[in-house]
Amino acid sequence: MDRVYLDHAATTPTDARVIDAMVEVYRDHWGNPSSIYLEGQDAHRVLDEARSLCAKLLGVAPREIVFTSGGTESDNAAIRGAAFAQRERGRGTHIVTTQVEHHAVLHVVEQLEREGFTTTYLPVDGEGVVDLAALEAAVGPETSVVSVMTANNEVGTIQPVAEAVRIAKEKNPKVVFHSDAVQAAGVLDISPETTGVDMLSIAAHKMYGPKGSGLLYIRRRTPWTPMILGGSQERERRAGTENLAGIAGLAEAMKLAWEEREERNAHARRLRDRLLYELPERIPDTVVTGPADPERRLPNNMSCAFRNVEGESVLLAMDMAEIAASSGSACTTGSVDPSHVLTAMGIDGGLAHAALRLTVGKDNTDEQIDYVLDTLPGIVAKLRALAG
Ligand SMILES: Cc1ncc(COP(=O)(O)O)c(C=O)c1O
Repeated sequence: MDRVYLDHAATTPTDARVIDAMVEVYRDHWGNPSSIYLEGQDAHRVLDEARSLCAKLLGVAPREIVFTSGGTESDNAAIRGAAFAQRERGRGTHIVTTQVEHHAVLHVVEQLEREGFTTTYLPVDGEGVVDLAALEAAVGPETSVVSVMTANNEVGTIQPVAEAVRIAKEKNPKVVFHSDAVQAAGVLDISPETTGVDMLSIAAHKMYGPKGSGLLYIRRRTPWTPMILGGSQERERRAGTENLAGIAGLAEAMKLAWEEREERNAHARRLRDRLLYELPERIPDTVVTGPADPERRLPNNMSCAFRNVEGESVLLAMDMAEIAASSGSACTTGSVDPSHVLTAMGIDGGLAHAALRLTVGKDNTDEQIDYVLDTLPGIVAKLRALAG
């Protein structure tokens, strides 16, 4: 069996069409977009076209897009940028987020706490859905920024973002609402017009684009101050010569994801449902984590835990059997702490240590899923026998 890659939530293989678009930029449009002569103008045109395309797909204005180095930078820039700008305007220093955000959000909020801001981490229910009553109770006149992710990277839970925006803005219309849509982009309707968010983070590498490229949407007139200072690129919102090939790759990846969304989602859902329903039938004591209703989780996400077995050992044995999977967030792999997401969902430490996340992609096949369904029960049984 060739390698079976089932960790598309960590990253995705780069689409050949995206590579072509990037190679074309490296080869034919290598000018500096800030230069005034022909090569610069040509590069600037590439930049403008990419920005217009991304904006069109999101249903926003081109000037509301800031290109970044990916999801982490977008999250950092969004939250810090809004927190400081709001404070400057005397609009409060209270930040609200959830307990299940990616560390690219959580660590920023923790840092702001050390810098004098106050914070609230909203709880979630057993399926990872944010507690909207807690949101309503938390937002007050001092609240300046709210950040609730669109969908969770570990268990795939889709959050009620539009409702959260409505609740937060009803309590305080001056609140800046950010959502980390890194896992949801190209999968769900994330257009700010639909959800009402003021800021949105996206990364190209989760949708068959390049790593190190992403964007931050900032609704016009949102109080925001930049983090990266220097030249006047990106309308002085993100200094530094643009990663033009990365930006072109992001635009192409988004275009393809938007065009092929229905097809990709249907394919993912079908393969994922096989894992979701057949694995617990074949492996005793499997606990599915995340929403029980598959419609309420990302279509490519299956997450579970096997009782009485270490998740890490399962992953290593799977790797030897040519299957790439993860215990959850790529960033916490190798750490001994159980996932903060599973802990927030009330899953006990022992089980959280046994977590497995399988995320399918557009190039996975039924044969590969057959192979996983045939191979994994033996792996778990063997490890359980060894553990005695
Ligand atoms: C929900 C979420 N936010 C942010 C990030 C960070 O994005 P990047 O790797 O592009 O910095 C990830 C990546 O795993 C993610 O899943």
